[in-house]
Amino acid sequence: MRNGHLMLLPGLLMLLLLPLGAAAQKSSDSTRYCPANSAVFNDTSCRCSPGFNSSSGEIFYSGPERCEDINECAPPSLVSCGKFSNCQNTEGSYHCTCSPGYELASGARVFRDESENTCQDVDECSSGQPTCHKSTICINTVGSYKCRCLWGLEPKPGFQNNQPNTTCEEMSFPTWTPPPGINSQRLSRFFERVQDLRRDFKPALAQGTIQDLIQEVDELLETPGDLEALPCSEQHCVATNLLVGLEDVLRNLSQALPNGTLTFNESAGTDPAASSLFSESVDLPILNISYQ
Ligand SMILES: *[C@@H]1O[C@H](CO)[C@@H](O)[C@H](O)[C@H]1NC(C)=O
Ligand SMILES: *[C@@H]1O[C@H](CO)[C@@H](O)[C@H](O)[C@H]1NC(C)=O
Ligand SMILES: *[C@@H]1O[C@H](CO)[C@@H](O)[C@H](O)[C@H]1NC(C)=O
Ligand SMILES: *[C@@H]1O[C@H](CO)[C@@H](O)[C@H](O)[C@H]1NC(C)=O
Ligand SMILES: *[C@@H]1O[C@H](CO)[C@@H](O)[C@H](O)[C@H]1NC(C)=O
Ligand SMILES: *[C@@H]1O[C@H](CO)[C@@H](O)[C@H](O)[C@H]1NC(C)=O
Ligand SMILES: *[C@@H]1O[C@H](CO)[C@@H](O)[C@H](O)[C@H]1NC(C)=O
Repeated sequence: MRNGHLMLLPGLLMLLLLPLGAAAQKSSDSTRYCPANSAVFNDTSCRCSPGFNSSSGEIFYSGPERCEDINECAPPSLVSCGKFSNCQNTEGSYHCTCSPGYELASGARVFRDESENTCQDVDECSSGQPTCHKSTICINTVGSYKCRCLWGLEPKPGFQNNQPNTTCEEMSFPTWTPPPGINSQRLSRFFERVQDLRRDFKPALAQGTIQDLIQEVDELLETPGDLEALPCSEQHCVATNLLVGLEDVLRNLSQALPNGTLTFNESAGTDPAASSLFSESVDLPILNISYQ
């Protein structure tokens, strides 16, 4: 008996469920088909999900409509994330993030709008992350940071100062080669002195080296010796070499100076007009050396 009743159950359930199924079928027939990212609004219309819109508006009547993501960030935009931030559209929504080099006071990553904007500069130098190479000091800047060579160091070849990847090495006195093919004892003596200065160079003593060098050039121009006997073209060659060489060296050595602008006295000879070496007009480079 018990078993017989139980066996009837599935049949009964079938009978009970049939009308329900038919009703469900009927109901979905009477509502319209609503596309992705939308839901039934009423018997004849669909409504796009929040953050989506169709070409005929949020609520639309049947037809080949699609609900597309609204780019809340695109102008004309109702969303304002505030300063030092970016608006990021997402599927069906958006969020605000701080610009690179900035972060929210709370440390959170995203925020909703301007009223929640607490984007502030990240001090990369004290953040503890590996930042600047140890041959440099880290300088925080608004939105970023830079690395500057320690005193007496200069950027390694391929690197520049004040970059995030600056890497430095001991600074050296730049090479200054004599003009080729000039036969002058006076000039040879000058370059021997330059070699001495070069050999003895210490970044910490750059100021003194610079003064000595300028003095050597002064003396050479004041007492040109056998240079005066050179043909004009060779004199030009020497004069150009002196000015270009001096400028190069000063420019480099000035980087070893702690701060301020390198100023030096254009006494006597370095005033080009005062030397007979410059009696003919030469294209003189301007000695304009500064150090930030
Ligand atoms: C459904 O909503 C739309 C938009 O509000 C309206 O125009 C339409 O008459 C409504 N249809 C029904 C059957 O209520
Ligand atoms: C949705 O689209 C309609 C028709 O293009 C437009 O008038 C309406 O402003 C849009 N709504 C939003 C929130 O973008
Ligand atoms: C250092 O960074 C600059 C700028 O990002 C890049 O152009 C340069 O190639 C880098 N230098 C080296 C040696 O990696
Ligand atoms: C002078 O300094 C610059 C910048 O530090 C460097 O690139 C250049 O190689 C130096 N010149 C010489 C001759 O060392
Ligand atoms: C470098 O500059 C600072 C501040 O500008 C100043 O106090 C200091 O005396 C300067 N040092 C030298 C060696 O000029
Ligand atoms: C520059 O020369 C003038 C006049 O010869 C002198 O009074 C001044 O002290 C000199 N300045 C420096 C920095 O040597
Ligand atoms: C020196 O150089 C700087 C930067 O290159 C320039 O702005 C300035 O005008 C120059 N000064 C002179 C007197 O040429």
